[in-house]
Amino acid sequence: MLRGRHLIEPMDFTTEELEEVFELADRIIERPEEYSNLCEGKLLATLFYEPSTRTRLSFEAAMIRLGGKVIGFSEAGSSSTAKGESIADTIRTIGCYSDIAVMRHPKEGAPKVASLYSTIPVINAGDGGHQHPTQTLTDLLTIRSIKGSLSDLTIGLCGDLKFGRTVHSLIKAMSRYKNITFQLISPKELKIPEYIKKEVLEKNNIKFTEVERLEDAIGSLNILYMTRVQKERFFNEEDYVRLKDSYILDQEKMTMAKEDMIILHPLPRVNEISLEVDQDPRAFYFKQTKFGMYVRMALIAKLLGVDK
Ligand code: NCD
Repeated sequence: MLRGRHLIEPMDFTTEELEEVFELADRIIERPEEYSNLCEGKLLATLFYEPSTRTRLSFEAAMIRLGGKVIGFSEAGSSSTAKGESIADTIRTIGCYSDIAVMRHPKEGAPKVASLYSTIPVINAGDGGHQHPTQTLTDLLTIRSIKGSLSDLTIGLCGDLKFGRTVHSLIKAMSRYKNITFQLISPKELKIPEYIKKEVLEKNNIKFTEVERLEDAIGSLNILYMTRVQKERFFNEEDYVRLKDSYILDQEKMTMAKEDMIILHPLPRVNEISLEVDQDPRAFYFKQTKFGMYVRMALIAKLLGVDK
């Protein structure tokens, strides 16, 4: 039963519960008009303390397409946080006005804290360099739709594996499916955090390799998940400048990839995928964005308990 639950990190839902969300998303994609009044009379609050385009607007679009309404703020400076209000008090207030809340925050754990004080479901829309579970729902629905399954895949994760929260959440979520192999492609300075290696990959006996060159891994992949170097999480500009263009996926590199490899990216893209790659039939990042809206529609309906 997903009604009334929070989604703070990917493991909060069992794989069966995830499948329930995906099946509803499939039905919505097929007949969106049948779901256009599902959330009538309901209000979603978007509490965004960090920049966002896709996550916030896809949540808002999702709620509006379900017939619900949206309130919120898109920067901390325009909320009472600027006056020193705590997360706990903010969420208690939001619970008086709305039925469900989505929070993005630069501090790891902030949405978790909110959920402890909340009377309404809280969805983590990204907390610092930690987790981003609804991007993972998006990624899984995309993979499941295009590849037909979430098992038997070799997945290359490329770029900023240290600060990239989408990568951390995706690894956690994929660790529960059968026969998954990861190729972790990053510069030394941006390797996957030790806790993910020890507590997720090694603990679950998941095959993984760490490599520095994209060329050394690309040929073996079913999925290439590109990521942006997370500028806002660096302690100094110099390191960012040195590392920002570590990987640039172009058509030349794509000639080394399998014919049916798919390229995903949570977006925003900076330089890591050349524009020429957008024309390649293996580029799925904009389709992925669309899946993101549908999966959020399904998630909202499930947490509100209004799904048919
Ligand atoms: C990601 C994020 O915010 O972590 N963006 C998104 O939500 N699609 C990835 C990123 O910012 O690089």
